[in-house]
Amino acid sequence: MEPINDYMMKDHRDCDGIFERARDAADAGDWDAAARAAGTFLARIERHIELEEDLLFPAFEESSGTSVGGPTETMRSEHVQMRPLFEQMRAALEAKNARQYGEAAQALHEILMQHNMKEEQMMYPMLDQSLGDDGAQRMVARLRERALPETA
Ligand SMILES: [Fe+2]
Ligand SMILES: [Fe+2]
Repeated sequence: MEPINDYMMKDHRDCDGIFERARDAADAGDWDAAARAAGTFLARIERHIELEEDLLFPAFEESSGTSVGGPTETMRSEHVQMRPLFEQMRAALEAKNARQYGEAAQALHEILMQHNMKEEQMMYPMLDQSLGDDGAQRMVARLRERALPETA
């Protein structure tokens, strides 16, 4: 069986890899490649966040009995900080503005590194523990059902 932590960590790594591809292409002025990779990245990360907010955070809140003032509140507010950066990245790609893309991508990168680490070290392991093997497996199956293909 695959724990929630492994599944979600892999999704973080996959998104990171696509993000790097987009940034490298934008830096090199290859806008077609940058737009393709960034489009995939944005779709994947937005789906990732959606699954956390729809499925994982509510399960965490239910099992831990915390919502207001708890860790999911922090995670949700960090997601809120990310959303305008997604829009800035999209706008920069459209304008073929490498500097603007680089700045928005860097700002996102800084939030994401910390954010993902907190999820991987605390939120996902606690979920695996509280849901138990069967519950975690059912949750991974639900996550998989809504996963986007590699190149969406
Ligand atoms: Fe998250
Ligand atoms: Fe995450």
